[in-house]
Amino acid sequence: MTSINPTLHIVGAGAIGSLLATGAQRQHLAYQRYPRTIANSPHYARWLDNSKVPLSMQTAQANVLAKNDVLVLPLKVYQLESALSYWRPYLVHSPALVLLHNGMGGWEIAQQILGPHYPLLLATTSHGAFKQIDDKGKAFITYSGQGSTQIGAPNKGNRLSPPLSDAINLLHNALPPVSTPDNIVHALWQKLSVNMVINPLTALNHIQNKHILDSQFSDVRRALCKEFVDVANACGLVFNETKVHEHVLAVAKATGENYSSMHQDVLHGRPTEIDAINGYIVEMAKKKGIHVPVNTLMVERIKALNL
Ligand code: PAF
Repeated sequence: MTSINPTLHIVGAGAIGSLLATGAQRQHLAYQRYPRTIANSPHYARWLDNSKVPLSMQTAQANVLAKNDVLVLPLKVYQLESALSYWRPYLVHSPALVLLHNGMGGWEIAQQILGPHYPLLLATTSHGAFKQIDDKGKAFITYSGQGSTQIGAPNKGNRLSPPLSDAINLLHNALPPVSTPDNIVHALWQKLSVNMVINPLTALNHIQNKHILDSQFSDVRRALCKEFVDVANACGLVFNETKVHEHVLAVAKATGENYSSMHQDVLHGRPTEIDAINGYIVEMAKKKGIHVPVNTLMVERIKALNL
Protein backbone atom coordinates (compact mmCIF):
# COMPACT_ATOMS: atom_id res chain seq x y z
CA MET A 1 0.00 0.00 0.00
CA THR A 2 1.50 3.33 -1.06
CA SER A 3 -0.12 6.75 -1.10
CA ILE A 4 0.64 9.31 -3.83
CA ASN A 5 2.16 11.82 -1.45
CA PRO A 6 3.98 10.42 1.53
CA THR A 7 2.96 11.74 4.92
CA LEU A 8 5.39 12.61 7.66
CA HIS A 9 3.99 11.24 10.93
CA ILE A 10 5.56 12.95 13.94
CA VAL A 11 5.11 11.46 17.39
CA GLY A 12 5.06 13.68 20.49
CA ALA A 13 5.00 17.43 20.91
CA GLY A 14 8.61 18.22 21.72
CA ALA A 15 10.55 21.15 20.31
CA ILE A 16 12.40 19.22 17.58
CA GLY A 17 9.34 17.26 16.42
CA SER A 18 7.34 20.48 16.30
CA LEU A 19 10.13 22.16 14.36
CA LEU A 20 9.99 19.37 11.80
CA ALA A 21 6.20 19.78 11.58
CA THR A 22 6.70 23.51 11.00
CA GLY A 23 9.20 22.81 8.22
CA ALA A 24 6.68 20.44 6.59
CA GLN A 25 3.94 23.06 6.94
CA ARG A 26 6.11 25.73 5.29
CA GLN A 27 6.93 23.41 2.38
CA HIS A 28 3.29 22.28 1.99
CA LEU A 29 4.23 18.68 2.75
CA ALA A 30 1.67 16.35 4.27
CA TYR A 31 2.24 15.82 7.98
CA GLN A 32 0.41 14.55 11.05
CA ARG A 33 1.26 15.14 14.67
CA TYR A 34 0.58 12.76 17.53
CA PRO A 35 1.03 14.72 20.77
CA ARG A 36 0.30 13.02 24.07
CA THR A 37 -2.09 15.84 24.95
CA ILE A 38 -3.44 18.76 22.92
CA ALA A 39 -2.61 21.12 25.79
CA ASN A 40 1.15 20.75 25.39
CA SER A 41 1.10 20.77 21.58
CA PRO A 42 2.55 23.95 20.01
CA HIS A 43 0.00 26.07 18.12
CA TYR A 44 2.60 27.92 16.08
CA ALA A 45 6.32 28.44 15.58
CA ARG A 46 8.51 31.51 15.46
CA TRP A 47 10.81 30.83 12.49
CA LEU A 48 14.41 32.00 12.21
CA ASP A 49 13.29 35.28 10.54
CA ASN A 50 10.78 35.80 13.40
CA SER A 51 7.80 35.07 11.11
CA LYS A 52 4.90 33.26 12.77
CA VAL A 53 3.99 29.88 11.23
CA PRO A 54 0.64 28.49 12.40
CA LEU A 55 0.56 24.72 12.86
CA SER A 56 -2.34 22.42 12.09
CA MET A 57 -3.89 21.47 15.44
CA GLN A 58 -5.67 18.50 13.92
CA THR A 59 -4.43 15.51 15.84
CA ALA A 60 -4.63 12.21 14.09
CA GLN A 61 -5.57 8.82 15.45
CA ALA A 62 -2.88 6.27 14.71
CA ASN A 63 -3.82 4.25 11.66
CA VAL A 64 -2.04 1.74 9.42
CA LEU A 65 0.64 3.79 7.65
CA ALA A 66 1.33 3.55 3.90
CA LYS A 67 4.61 2.01 2.76
CA ASN A 68 5.99 5.35 1.57
CA ASP A 69 5.00 7.25 4.75
CA VAL A 70 7.65 8.12 7.32
CA LEU A 71 7.24 7.75 11.08
CA VAL A 72 9.52 10.02 13.09
CA LEU A 73 10.01 9.48 16.82
CA PRO A 74 11.71 12.58 18.25
CA LEU A 75 11.28 11.22 21.77
CA LYS A 76 13.49 10.52 24.75
CA VAL A 77 15.02 7.03 24.78
CA TYR A 78 13.01 6.09 27.89
CA GLN A 79 9.76 6.86 26.01
CA LEU A 80 10.59 4.66 23.02
CA GLU A 81 9.56 1.25 24.29
CA SER A 82 5.95 2.22 24.92
CA ALA A 83 5.75 4.40 21.78
CA LEU A 84 7.06 1.62 19.52
CA SER A 85 4.84 -1.03 21.13
CA TYR A 86 1.87 1.26 20.53
CA TRP A 87 2.82 1.89 16.87
CA ARG A 88 3.84 -1.66 15.94
CA PRO A 89 0.35 -2.80 14.75
CA TYR A 90 0.22 0.21 12.39
CA LEU A 91 3.55 -0.63 10.74
CA VAL A 92 2.48 -3.74 8.81
CA HIS A 93 3.62 -2.18 5.49
CA SER A 94 7.05 -1.37 6.98
CA PRO A 95 7.19 2.40 6.39
CA ALA A 96 10.58 3.96 7.23
CA LEU A 97 11.04 4.78 10.88
CA VAL A 98 13.32 7.53 12.14
CA LEU A 99 14.71 7.65 15.67
CA LEU A 100 15.87 11.12 16.67
CA HIS A 101 17.07 11.44 20.24
CA ASN A 102 19.95 12.42 22.48
CA GLY A 103 22.01 9.55 23.82
CA MET A 104 22.10 5.92 22.78
CA GLY A 105 20.05 2.78 23.17
CA GLY A 106 17.10 3.55 20.88
CA TRP A 107 18.33 1.28 18.11
CA GLU A 108 18.53 -1.69 20.49
CA ILE A 109 14.96 -1.02 21.75
CA ALA A 110 13.61 -0.71 18.19
CA GLN A 111 15.29 -3.97 17.16
CA GLN A 112 13.76 -5.79 20.12
CA ILE A 113 10.27 -4.55 19.29
CA LEU A 114 10.30 -4.49 15.47
CA GLY A 115 12.89 -7.14 14.71
CA PRO A 116 16.39 -6.82 13.22
CA HIS A 117 15.30 -6.19 9.61
CA TYR A 118 12.89 -3.27 10.05
CA PRO A 119 13.78 -0.27 7.76
CA LEU A 120 15.17 2.03 10.38
CA LEU A 121 17.08 5.32 10.29
CA LEU A 122 19.02 6.85 13.16
CA ALA A 123 19.40 10.60 13.23
CA THR A 124 20.97 13.38 15.24
CA THR A 125 20.29 17.06 14.84
CA SER A 126 21.95 20.29 15.89
CA HIS A 127 18.98 22.56 15.09
CA GLY A 128 18.10 24.72 18.08
CA ALA A 129 14.44 24.99 19.12
CA PHE A 130 12.62 25.44 22.41
CA LYS A 131 9.05 25.39 23.58
CA GLN A 132 7.37 28.19 25.52
CA ILE A 133 3.89 29.33 26.56
CA ASP A 134 2.66 32.68 25.24
CA ASP A 135 0.65 35.30 27.17
CA LYS A 136 -2.60 33.62 26.04
CA GLY A 137 -1.46 30.32 27.52
CA LYS A 138 -0.75 28.71 24.14
CA ALA A 139 2.32 26.55 23.60
CA PHE A 140 4.61 27.62 20.75
CA ILE A 141 8.16 26.90 19.65
CA THR A 142 11.01 29.19 18.72
CA TYR A 143 13.52 28.10 16.07
CA SER A 144 16.57 29.56 17.76
CA GLY A 145 19.45 28.36 15.61
CA GLN A 146 19.85 26.69 12.27
CA GLY A 147 21.83 23.49 12.51
CA SER A 148 21.82 20.34 10.44
CA THR A 149 20.67 16.75 10.69
CA GLN A 150 22.80 13.67 10.13
CA ILE A 151 20.99 10.48 9.31
CA GLY A 152 21.70 6.93 8.23
CA ALA A 153 20.88 3.29 8.62
CA PRO A 154 23.12 1.48 11.10
CA ASN A 155 25.65 -0.83 9.40
CA LYS A 156 24.51 0.13 5.91
CA GLY A 157 26.81 3.02 4.90
CA ASN A 158 25.15 5.71 2.83
CA ARG A 159 24.01 3.68 -0.18
CA LEU A 160 20.41 3.21 0.80
CA SER A 161 17.46 1.88 -1.12
CA PRO A 162 13.89 3.13 -0.88
CA PRO A 163 11.99 3.54 1.41
CA LEU A 164 15.01 4.82 3.38
CA SER A 165 16.44 7.14 0.71
CA ASP A 166 12.95 8.56 0.01
CA ALA A 167 12.45 9.14 3.71
CA ILE A 168 15.74 11.07 3.88
CA ASN A 169 14.67 13.23 0.91
CA LEU A 170 11.36 13.98 2.60
CA LEU A 171 13.13 15.05 5.80
CA HIS A 172 15.55 17.19 3.81
CA ASN A 173 12.63 18.89 2.05
CA ALA A 174 10.94 19.60 5.38
CA LEU A 175 13.94 20.74 7.45
CA PRO A 176 17.23 21.08 5.58
CA PRO A 177 20.06 20.36 5.54
CA VAL A 178 20.04 16.61 6.04
CA SER A 179 23.28 14.75 5.33
CA THR A 180 24.20 11.07 5.31
CA PRO A 181 27.58 10.40 6.94
CA ASP A 182 29.44 7.22 6.00
CA ASN A 183 28.87 5.82 9.47
CA ILE A 184 25.84 7.11 11.38
CA VAL A 185 26.82 5.10 14.47
CA HIS A 186 30.13 6.99 14.64
CA ALA A 187 28.24 10.28 14.23
CA LEU A 188 25.94 9.32 17.12
CA TRP A 189 28.92 8.47 19.35
CA GLN A 190 30.39 11.85 18.44
CA LYS A 191 27.17 13.52 19.61
CA LEU A 192 27.29 11.31 22.72
CA SER A 193 30.75 12.70 23.52
CA VAL A 194 29.29 16.23 23.55
CA ASN A 195 26.26 15.32 25.64
CA MET A 196 28.20 13.26 28.20
CA VAL A 197 30.25 16.34 29.15
CA ILE A 198 27.93 19.32 28.62
CA ASN A 199 24.67 17.85 29.89
CA PRO A 200 25.55 16.60 33.39
CA LEU A 201 27.97 19.45 34.14
CA THR A 202 25.45 22.16 33.17
CA ALA A 203 22.63 20.38 35.00
CA LEU A 204 24.56 19.81 38.23
CA ASN A 205 26.04 23.30 38.33
CA HIS A 206 23.05 25.30 36.99
CA ILE A 207 25.10 26.92 34.25
CA GLN A 208 24.82 27.81 30.57
CA ASN A 209 26.78 25.64 28.13
CA LYS A 210 29.64 28.17 27.79
CA HIS A 211 30.56 27.88 31.48
CA ILE A 212 31.76 24.31 31.15
CA LEU A 213 34.79 25.92 29.45
CA ASP A 214 35.79 27.37 32.85
CA SER A 215 39.09 26.05 34.19
CA GLN A 216 37.40 24.61 37.31
CA PHE A 217 35.85 21.95 35.01
CA SER A 218 39.05 21.18 33.11
CA ASP A 219 39.96 17.99 35.02
CA VAL A 220 36.49 16.51 34.95
CA ARG A 221 36.06 17.37 31.23
CA ARG A 222 39.31 15.68 30.33
CA ALA A 223 38.61 12.64 32.51
CA LEU A 224 35.19 12.19 30.88
CA CYS A 225 36.75 12.46 27.42
CA LYS A 226 39.41 9.89 28.27
CA GLU A 227 36.83 7.41 29.55
CA PHE A 228 34.68 8.04 26.47
CA VAL A 229 37.55 7.30 24.10
CA ASP A 230 38.55 4.13 25.99
CA VAL A 231 35.01 2.77 25.79
CA ALA A 232 34.35 3.91 22.19
CA ASN A 233 37.61 2.37 20.99
CA ALA A 234 36.80 -0.89 22.80
CA CYS A 235 33.46 -0.89 20.96
CA GLY A 236 35.28 -0.55 17.62
CA LEU A 237 34.73 3.20 17.12
CA VAL A 238 37.92 5.14 16.64
CA PHE A 239 38.18 8.48 18.47
CA ASN A 240 41.09 10.61 19.59
CA GLU A 241 41.07 12.07 23.12
CA THR A 242 42.40 15.54 22.21
CA LYS A 243 40.02 15.87 19.28
CA VAL A 244 37.03 14.75 21.34
CA HIS A 245 37.86 17.34 24.01
CA GLU A 246 38.32 20.07 21.38
CA HIS A 247 35.01 19.18 19.76
CA VAL A 248 33.19 19.33 23.12
CA LEU A 249 34.67 22.78 23.76
CA ALA A 250 33.71 23.99 20.28
CA VAL A 251 30.08 22.90 20.73
CA ALA A 252 29.93 24.43 24.23
CA LYS A 253 31.19 27.70 22.76
CA ALA A 254 28.85 27.61 19.74
CA THR A 255 25.81 26.91 21.95
CA GLY A 256 27.20 29.02 24.81
CA GLU A 257 24.07 30.98 25.68
CA ASN A 258 21.87 27.83 25.75
CA TYR A 259 20.88 25.86 28.76
CA SER A 260 21.33 22.20 27.87
CA SER A 261 18.39 19.84 27.63
CA MET A 262 19.45 18.09 30.86
CA HIS A 263 19.71 21.42 32.66
CA GLN A 264 16.14 22.17 31.54
CA ASP A 265 14.90 18.73 32.57
CA VAL A 266 16.39 19.17 36.05
CA LEU A 267 15.03 22.71 36.34
CA HIS A 268 11.51 21.55 35.46
CA GLY A 269 11.69 18.43 37.62
CA ARG A 270 11.44 16.08 34.62
CA PRO A 271 13.22 12.72 34.26
CA THR A 272 16.60 13.17 32.58
CA GLU A 273 18.31 11.27 29.75
CA ILE A 274 21.27 10.35 31.97
CA ASP A 275 20.77 6.59 31.43
CA ALA A 276 21.04 7.03 27.64
CA ILE A 277 24.08 9.32 27.91
CA ASN A 278 26.63 8.74 30.71
CA GLY A 279 24.66 5.62 31.75
CA TYR A 280 25.20 4.14 28.28
CA ILE A 281 28.96 4.66 28.57
CA VAL A 282 28.93 3.00 32.01
CA GLU A 283 26.94 0.06 30.59
CA MET A 284 29.29 -0.41 27.61
CA ALA A 285 32.31 -0.02 29.91
CA LYS A 286 30.99 -2.84 32.12
CA LYS A 287 30.63 -5.12 29.09
CA LYS A 288 34.20 -4.37 28.05
CA GLY A 289 35.67 -4.51 31.58
CA ILE A 290 36.72 -0.82 31.58
CA HIS A 291 36.81 1.38 34.69
CA VAL A 292 34.81 4.64 34.19
CA PRO A 293 34.61 6.31 37.64
CA VAL A 294 33.84 9.82 36.40
CA ASN A 295 30.94 8.79 34.16
CA THR A 296 29.68 6.63 37.03
CA LEU A 297 29.84 9.64 39.36
CA MET A 298 27.87 11.78 36.86
CA VAL A 299 25.13 9.13 36.73
CA GLU A 300 25.02 8.86 40.53
CA ARG A 301 24.91 12.61 41.08
CA ILE A 302 22.12 13.18 38.53
CA LYS A 303 20.15 10.23 39.93
CA ALA A 304 20.58 11.63 43.45
CA LEU A 305 18.43 14.57 42.34
CA ASN A 306 15.50 12.08 42.40
CA LEU A 307 13.64 13.31 39.34
O1 PAF B 1 21.21 18.26 24.86
C1 PAF B 1 21.54 19.40 24.49
O2 PAF B 1 21.21 20.41 25.12
C2 PAF B 1 22.29 19.56 23.19
O3 PAF B 1 22.42 18.30 22.60
C3 PAF B 1 23.66 20.25 23.33
C4 PAF B 1 24.49 19.98 22.10
C5 PAF B 1 24.40 19.82 24.56
C6 PAF B 1 23.50 21.75 23.29
O4 PAF B 1 22.77 22.27 24.35
